[in-house]
Amino acid sequence: MKNRGLVASIVLLTLATLLVVCVGAIGAADPGALATSKCAACHDLKRVCKNLGVKDDAAWQESVSRMVAKGDKVNAADGKVIAEYLTGLKAGAKPICE
Ligand code: HEC
Repeated sequence: MKNRGLVASIVLLTLATLLVVCVGAIGAADPGALATSKCAACHDLKRVCKNLGVKDDAAWQESVSRMVAKGDKVNAADGKVIAEYLTGLKAGAKPICE
């Protein structure tokens, strides 16, 4: 069979693509989980909840920077993701507000 090599290559290529897609999905942090894990270390999430629908993106970016100055271990990329995520939430939204 002349085509076996080709078929095998296509199968391998498909598997490799699937692997990359899966790893990418795991690598992309869920912003909700990120916020609940990074922002409840020093105070509860009520403080964050109270400001949903109040702070705009710039205000959230500023808050996250202030939290970093206080010792939050969130890196710049995750901080940006968290701020953008919080900006998009409506007042009272889960999982920030229980
Ligand atoms: C290292 C400890 C620490 C972590 C982690 C932390 N905070 Fe804070 N946060 C504080 C302290 C201390 C205050 C109260 C003093 C103040 O407001 O400056 C505060 C107050 C706040 C307030 C109320 C004041 C304001 O800026 O409106 C908000 C909102 C807030 N934090 C959001 C967050 C978010 C969002 C995260 C996650 C990115 C987070 N915090 C993580 C220490 C922390």
